[in-house]
Amino acid sequence: MDKAKIFITRKIPEEAIQLLENDFVVKIWEEDRPVPREVLLDEVKDIDGLYVMVSEKIDQEVLDHASNLKAVSIMAVGYDNIDVSCLTKRGIILTHTPGVLSDTTADLTFALLMATARRITEANRYLLAGKWTSWSPMLMAGQDVYGATIGIIGMGRIGEALAKRATGFDMKILYHNRNRRPEVEERLGAEYRSFDDLLKESDFVVLLTPLTPETRNLIGERELDLMKPTSILINASRGATVDEEALYQALLNKKIWAAGLDVFQQEPIPKDHPLLQLDNVVALPHIGSASIATRKKMAMMAAEGLRDALLGNRPKHMVNPEVLFQL
Ligand code: DGY
Repeated sequence: MDKAKIFITRKIPEEAIQLLENDFVVKIWEEDRPVPREVLLDEVKDIDGLYVMVSEKIDQEVLDHASNLKAVSIMAVGYDNIDVSCLTKRGIILTHTPGVLSDTTADLTFALLMATARRITEANRYLLAGKWTSWSPMLMAGQDVYGATIGIIGMGRIGEALAKRATGFDMKILYHNRNRRPEVEERLGAEYRSFDDLLKESDFVVLLTPLTPETRNLIGERELDLMKPTSILINASRGATVDEEALYQALLNKKIWAAGLDVFQQEPIPKDHPLLQLDNVVALPHIGSASIATRKKMAMMAAEGLRDALLGNRPKHMVNPEVLFQL
């Protein structure tokens, strides 16, 4: 029997490629930039499996070109770039990489929170620009992290890992989530709040929710108005959870104190974007899970998911298990 064919949209760690090459014919987009749309549409024509990143939009058009496709695997926990219902209707399995990146992403989120509160990047730019002429009592004075109130929106695995870090800084932990998490309340002392109360009470509002129709533009003018003038917004989820124009106005007019952003509505964010011109914004290029070890684990997990799906074994981390019951 002919080996199944796979297309991988980015160079991934060698061990993950080898794992797939053991069973399949593998083709890789070798360039270090997202695969152009027209190339993707052409490459998917006769493949059985597709291995993608958060940078590819997998929608009806792609699927219309991919009549043989049986499984898609994304090297990420979030899959809002993929039209899951369209995949499911066609009986195509989707797998992802939950869990393995939670601690690494929580580390980065906490680092972003601290960098924003203590003006680390702004202070570094100031020094490098030769502006540091004398020690001064209030130079680059920021907000305290220890003992402050953190409000976590989205208490999933990453939220929990972040809450654990916050306990080390004696922070009061509030959270808002679709479902109450009694075990997290008990173990980490987190207190549940309504969405509005969390915004009003928190010194740090941290977004860790997946992007869904309900969370798109979750933070807009109304929500920013509810936050304290000394508060900081941290977004480590998806850019589209925040209305960026409203955020820009709130930061400009000091309705909130600062923002730390790892994700943006358009990625990469254009260099001349208004948000990037503000001193009270710390911006990162979507690197939440980017440690060497974790990216390798994610690459392997996504490869195993695709392999299992194509070999007819149930993948461990299926997004749409209902597909199995359609067969
Ligand atoms: C994810 O896993 O969803 C991240 O945003 C990409 O690493």
